[in-house]
Amino acid sequence: MVPAQETRAPEVTLDEIVALCKRRGFIFPSSEIYGGIGSTYDYGHYGVLLRNNVKAEWWRAMLSDHEEIVALDSAVIQHPKVWEASGHIGGFTDPLIDCRTCKLRFRADKLEDAECGRKPSKHPGEHSECDLTEARQFNLMFETHVGPLKDSASVAYLRPETAQGIFINFKNVLQFARRKPPFGIAQIGKSFRNEITTGNFIFRTREFEQMEMEYFVPPDEAPKWHEYWMEERMRWFTDLGIRSAGLRLREHGPDELSHYSSATSDIEYLFPMGWSELEGIANRGDFDLRQHTEFSGEKLEYFDPDTKEAYVPHVIEPAAGADRAMLAFIVDAYDTEEVEGRKRTVLRLHPRLAPVKAAVLPLVSKEGMPERARAIYDEVRSKVAAEYDEGGSIGRRYRRQDEIGTPWGITVDGQTADDGTVTLRDRDSLEQVRLPAEGIAEHLAAKLAEAWRSPKLD
Ligand code: GAP
Repeated sequence: MVPAQETRAPEVTLDEIVALCKRRGFIFPSSEIYGGIGSTYDYGHYGVLLRNNVKAEWWRAMLSDHEEIVALDSAVIQHPKVWEASGHIGGFTDPLIDCRTCKLRFRADKLEDAECGRKPSKHPGEHSECDLTEARQFNLMFETHVGPLKDSASVAYLRPETAQGIFINFKNVLQFARRKPPFGIAQIGKSFRNEITTGNFIFRTREFEQMEMEYFVPPDEAPKWHEYWMEERMRWFTDLGIRSAGLRLREHGPDELSHYSSATSDIEYLFPMGWSELEGIANRGDFDLRQHTEFSGEKLEYFDPDTKEAYVPHVIEPAAGADRAMLAFIVDAYDTEEVEGRKRTVLRLHPRLAPVKAAVLPLVSKEGMPERARAIYDEVRSKVAAEYDEGGSIGRRYRRQDEIGTPWGITVDGQTADDGTVTLRDRDSLEQVRLPAEGIAEHLAAKLAEAWRSPKLD
């Protein structure tokens, strides 16, 4: 069983996170020069590197740790029947309510999270001027048209989840991968949802990346594997530095379950706006394979050569958002402290997640230090992601690296010319040790492979 969890209060506001991400070039509101477009974000250099690292760690956990899991990359636009079979055309809806007075639109099931357009201290419907409509079902799928004609025959959808691309390839994968249940198919890719409840930065966006794995198992083993993946996925987050006091597992009640699920548990994280879903781990049973068998006419089942019987495997699905996971990693890593009378903001990210592992800095831009530092930089960046920075005071440069979460600073100073040593500064302890410049790249590569725990636990 998953161990009981302690809890704590949020430590940072979303505004502080948004400001840091903008200030340091992680994430920008999309189409900003045109006034922005709701709940859509663009990722800058460090955002791309950080999200890539999150995805790389997910692939590692799926493929390197599990020989029975294979990779897939399916199309964003699939046959429209896929979404009929999956139940998304009929059931992927949110109940919507409009206010005739303020003209705002709300999710009927989230009124208590929304602000009245006339009086923000009240919820919609609580103010005397509120005039709410009945709830209407609103489908979250983005529609498009395939080909030159815009008619009902050409309607297609941008996928709202990556999972269906896996189910419709079940037969293809089984043929080439020669796996027997339990086996998994993993995929990372963009999904699109015309979300109504927006806000909360990259927590809920209209375009986002999902990291989903469908694990096909003999039907009677489904509960056991469901439990297994809950533990594995919790461990993935804690191994990457999220403190367990900010994580919990919550089982869906019967009225919350998706149409396909017989049991789902969410891994929730204590985001600045409160406990919210980070990842879902569902027992989808045989719903999807049976639906696609019915709608496509193709039998999607596994033939067991030992028993000479065919059966439809059941599916356990860990489904995470890369952007949402990235937000949780940033929030958990965010820290401020006072150092020598000045406030220091630092992202205490797991070194493997950090966008840049090492910054190579000449103490001053003279006396041959930049040249020496550049040579070291060229060596270091051949082994780990590194950055060279010679602009401004050393203090400012350290602070910049702290804010993007760079775990190590390599400083070239006057002594480097004399004895070939540099200082290695640790982002978290601020300790500086002198080491030979030679071999420092290998030293850092070895440190990256070590187990790590958040210094916020100390
Ligand atoms: N295939 C199952 C599925 O899609 P989901 O709970 O709707 O389940 C899985 O989505 C995960 O994808 C969520 O836990 C979340 O991390 C991420 N996600 C879903 N909608 C999102 C959105 N609008 N913006 C960012 N991430 C989202």
